[in-house]
Amino acid sequence: MSGDETKPDGNEMAPRAVLVCINRRFRGDQPSCAARGSEALADAIAAGIAARNIRVKLERSICMGQCTKGPTVRFAPGGRFNLGTNLEDVPILLDELEALCGVADDDDGVPMHLLGS
Ligand code: FES
Repeated sequence: MSGDETKPDGNEMAPRAVLVCINRRFRGDQPSCAARGSEALADAIAAGIAARNIRVKLERSICMGQCTKGPTVRFAPGGRFNLGTNLEDVPILLDELEALCGVADDDDGVPMHLLGS
């Protein structure tokens, strides 16, 4: 993961989603995130979010215009690009997401009095 190529935008809101580009180009000689393993990366991030109960959703994304530097991961809305992300980066990403988004408690579901009888 390259921290040099992030684009800080000053947005302090917690991300609602983490986007992972899974675009694969038809021409094999052109770069794409899927050709660099982004599908496995998306699966690993999704599994980590579920295991930690992090309050964020993973979205498998179309191309984000960073094809030569992928796999591309971005926090949304308006977050920085994480470029060249690989499976070794997943724990760091999950730590960051957990710090920004928090984790759901068992109490985060629908209140019992609204469930009816
Ligand atoms: S193919 Fe992933 S950013 Fe373009």
